[in-house]
Amino acid sequence: MGELATKRRTYYCGELRSDNIGEVVVLKGWIHRRRDHGGLIFIDLRDRTGLCQVVLNPETMSREDFNKAHALRNEGVLAVEGSVTARPEGTVNPNIATGEIEVRVSIFELLNTAAPLPFRLDEYTTINEEIRLRYRYLDLRREEMQRNIRTRAKLYSVVRNYLNAGGFIEIETPILTKSTPEGARDFLVPSRLSPGQFYALPQSPQLFKQLLMVACYDKYYQIARCFRDEDFRANRQPEFTQIDIEMSFIQPDELFAVIEGMMQTIYREICDIAISVPFARLPYSEAMLKYGTDKPDIRFGMTIEDATDVVQHGCEFRIFSEVSKAGGVIRGICVPGESKFSRKQLDDLTSFVGTYGAKGLAWFRVTTEGLSSPIAKFFTSDTLKALTDRMKAKPNDLLLFIADSEKVVCAALDSLRLRLGKELSLIDPKKVTFVWIVDFPMLEWDEKERRFAAMHHPFTSPVPEDISLLETAPGKARALAYDLVLNGEEIGGGSIRIHRRDVQEKVFGAIGISPEESQRRFGFLLEALSFGAPPHGGIAFGFDRILMILLGEQSIREVIPFPKTQSGLCPLTGAPSDVDEGQLRELYIKTIVDNLK
Ligand code: AMO
Ligand code: AMP
Repeated sequence: MGELATKRRTYYCGELRSDNIGEVVVLKGWIHRRRDHGGLIFIDLRDRTGLCQVVLNPETMSREDFNKAHALRNEGVLAVEGSVTARPEGTVNPNIATGEIEVRVSIFELLNTAAPLPFRLDEYTTINEEIRLRYRYLDLRREEMQRNIRTRAKLYSVVRNYLNAGGFIEIETPILTKSTPEGARDFLVPSRLSPGQFYALPQSPQLFKQLLMVACYDKYYQIARCFRDEDFRANRQPEFTQIDIEMSFIQPDELFAVIEGMMQTIYREICDIAISVPFARLPYSEAMLKYGTDKPDIRFGMTIEDATDVVQHGCEFRIFSEVSKAGGVIRGICVPGESKFSRKQLDDLTSFVGTYGAKGLAWFRVTTEGLSSPIAKFFTSDTLKALTDRMKAKPNDLLLFIADSEKVVCAALDSLRLRLGKELSLIDPKKVTFVWIVDFPMLEWDEKERRFAAMHHPFTSPVPEDISLLETAPGKARALAYDLVLNGEEIGGGSIRIHRRDVQEKVFGAIGISPEESQRRFGFLLEALSFGAPPHGGIAFGFDRILMILLGEQSIREVIPFPKTQSGLCPLTGAPSDVDEGQLRELYIKTIVDNLK
């Protein structure tokens, strides 16, 4: 080891400017790129701040050292000492911050070598994501990932500063705990000290934050890790981060104001963008009707219109009449100016909606003479006219309809609208559009289980006037729940909670949890509610999702340092993996997977 190894670094690579010309500096970093011109070697030395060009020249260093420099390879770790000089005229690089200077090296030392890399750090886009995750520590060296992970750190601090300034108290809650239902499966952890018993990892800190309200810690927050054993869906990870918030004695309006301020602050601090408040509010039923989803992208129009009543008369198109007789709906969208879609394009859209369960896609081209379509002959001219009016269609537009159960129609038209919105460039990517979804139903019917299930979670308060409906018409009861949607992505959700034991018991009853079961699973909560629980409510945000949108990334994996693959694997460590027989024995666990060693 030479003296440079222990010599203190004087600057980060990306910090040097023309002001530093004449200084002798020590830099340490990775060999990002090297150009060996035989008599002269240029190296872009990289560290967390960026690049600096260092020049190895036999005139400024010993010939012996210089000869060793031919062996330097990319991603090797290098220390250099040299003097900062202005780059010769014509070689200034305006694209990098240190582009006006270079460091003429007098001594260098290779602190470590790097094996040939599995992928080039500047060509990652073409490589398989699994390889990136397998060598995540290399992938994380890339500039984009450095930006993402640093912005992540900044977001933590922006959120913390905002909430601390607002009088919120940061409190940690347990990771080894009891099941908290948020609609996914629990990850279980066997207990060695209580044989045959399991902890569950929290799907969210929901019950603990409610207990903290009972405990008089009004205005709690936590940047909390949550664990959900979910089937894969886009932008979900088995382990993710929430900004979790709870407050006592509040109404939704007060909470909305706190959150709107937080989002304004986040956008100002991270993106330097001013967001106007208050955010729009859209009732759940209207979101479903107009957008087919409870997380509508309202950055563009092309909203869904219901035409069930219009085609009830003067229509002999069998599919429409049968669907409407069976209680289904006929809804459609008007695609502006696209009447020229070819048959092939229309067939393609038909099979696309087929993947969402739609049995077909009825289409009409709007002309100055009226609607034209192979199925137009089944409609009276009055009905065609009424259909045109209902869809607010103009000549050259294209009308697309789906007839089916409301559920299928919503899902298919939502996807169709988003696909066409993207393909026809109707979405301004610069727009930042928040919308609160409000007035959720309390319960939804679970066809498979043949019972009602909580739409948010079972601790959500019904609208007070609707409490009695829980026993008479459970499907009609409304919840004091809300979601926050940003550019078509659900970034957060919350509710005013139940703070009375009798109401909580009623809700458990409505979703088919027997008194014995509710005692067994949630006895501690019911008990706490009986000791003077204050009215309270809160919300939680998907931290990873917010960050993904702030950074314009398409996947939350791009903003998580060490994410799992879509199938929940970690290619880097190989988790999940087998464990020793001895470890299992200690936990009193026997597996029944045949091929387990
Ligand atoms: P919810 O289940 O809606 O509510 O979660 C809140 C937000 O967390 C994000 N999110 C996820 N992000 C990444 N991967 C996942 N698997 C994942 N699941 C959820 C979403 C979501 O909006 N305890 C309640 C909140 C409350 O009532 O206060 C809860 O967890 O952005
Ligand atoms: P068919 O009678 O099957 O030839 O269908 C005539 C047209 O109606 C085709 O364009 C189909 O895609 C469309 N179609 C069929 N089923 C539905 C449906 N459930 N909703 C909307 N359009 C449909």
